[in-house]
Amino acid sequence: MKAKAILVGSFSAVAIALSAGASAGVKTIQLPPDGVQLKPSPLPGYAKAQANCVACHSAEYMLYQPPTAARPYWEAMVKRMKAVFKAPIEDTDVPVIVDYLVKTYGNEQAK
Ligand code: HEC
Repeated sequence: MKAKAILVGSFSAVAIALSAGASAGVKTIQLPPDGVQLKPSPLPGYAKAQANCVACHSAEYMLYQPPTAARPYWEAMVKRMKAVFKAPIEDTDVPVIVDYLVKTYGNEQAK
């Protein structure tokens, strides 16, 4: 006899938590990576972000940052990942990744 497990995600609970925190500056959500991919881009930082930014969490974390976030915000974010969580990011890659992030998720997005 075969056992069958059906996993039902708690997506609605997550959606509520996110919309409730949407305008707040700091969001602490805990959810497992669900396979959200980084947005493809011709920028060199895309590949670097794929190599450096989605090892510990999915690209969902980038998606939920404010689209008004400017370059210094993203720079602080990348540096925080490095300093606090020991993300193995080369110093020379930081500006490249920040460039990709601000143009893809921040306030320098193409219209
Ligand atoms: C070594 C593991 C690790 C790597 C690599 C990493 N992160 Fe994170 N990141 C974390 C952890 C842990 C959290 C959750 C922190 C929290 O809840 O405060 C997080 C949270 C975030 C958040 C959510 C906002 C926040 O302030 O918590 C963003 C955005 C983010 N990371 C972006 C990035 C980017 C961009 C990169 C690549 C430059 C990256 N992360 C690489 C561990 C990592």
